[in-house]
Amino acid sequence: MTEIESIRETALSEIERVKDLSGIQEIKAKYLGKKGSITQALKKIKDLPPQERKEFGKKVNEVKKQIEEALKAKEEEVKREKLKENLKREWEDLTLPAFRPIGSLHPITLTLRRILNIFTSKGFSIKEGPEVELEDYNFDRLNIPPDHPARDMQDTFYIKKEGYLLRTHTSPVQIRTMLSEEPPIQMVAPGKVYRRDDDPTHSPMFHQVEGLVVSENASFPEMRYVIESFLMEFFEEELPVRFRTSYFPFTEPSAEVDIGCMICGQKGCRVCKNTGWLEVMGCGMVHPAVLENCNIDSDIFQGYAFGMGVERLAMLYYGIDNIKTFYENDLRFLRQF
Ligand code: PHE
Repeated sequence: MTEIESIRETALSEIERVKDLSGIQEIKAKYLGKKGSITQALKKIKDLPPQERKEFGKKVNEVKKQIEEALKAKEEEVKREKLKENLKREWEDLTLPAFRPIGSLHPITLTLRRILNIFTSKGFSIKEGPEVELEDYNFDRLNIPPDHPARDMQDTFYIKKEGYLLRTHTSPVQIRTMLSEEPPIQMVAPGKVYRRDDDPTHSPMFHQVEGLVVSENASFPEMRYVIESFLMEFFEEELPVRFRTSYFPFTEPSAEVDIGCMICGQKGCRVCKNTGWLEVMGCGMVHPAVLENCNIDSDIFQGYAFGMGVERLAMLYYGIDNIKTFYENDLRFLRQF
């Protein structure tokens, strides 16, 4: 009986200390296996004097049951721990990209990327700004006084918060850049802009890319070279380009850039309204007042700027005649890109 008692004690303390499934198997074999000490003890029952058999048998079976239960409990505990550890190690990263991408890039995204690639290859950096913008950055500092027609409610989406609006162009990003960086500056600002406009060639939200260069020797000829070479690369064609005098409050002199209509080869068609020319962007030498509004000395530095509509360039490049097709997300349209 004392032997059985000490078997119980060692077995239970071994079970308590064991840490893995193979250890549990070893203990199981050691006590309950064919040659295990409990099994051996059970075999001994028949050799005992009859009056001792009952009590001894009861004791051995009790200890056997206790060891079995302790082993079972331990096994479950070890399995639970192992699962916890595995879960820590084998988690799934649901943010990883799908192996095979489904869908495709939107034509506006494709066009934006092509435009930005051309400018970054020319040394321009990309700057972004907020779509809810300060009126001061969208208008005042760009030399657009409060009574200027561009301020009219017709063109601008104002928001309730005094002094803020939905930016009508990405020029405020240029203000932000000039306020925070020292010249030389060579940047492009892509992004969404908002105007109260809605017809087959205008949408209340559209995309612009504007460029700005400020340096000691920025010049109109340099700007012409940058714009002309951009247009050749973008349209993958040697197109005729002309600079037509125009007016913007923030540039002086200002120009609008036309390209020869590639749809009719300048013979005159519906798209170019029989003029043979298509307007693709505005540009000019940054008005000295704008430089001064951004604490840049206009006696030392000069700048040029240009701005284009991404939808317009995409429509001309792909031959699309209604701007709305970009926003309807009709798969039959989108699948063509
Ligand atoms: N900001 C002008 C617009 O939105 C475009 C432009 C940019 C014109 C820079 C000249 C110089 O129409």
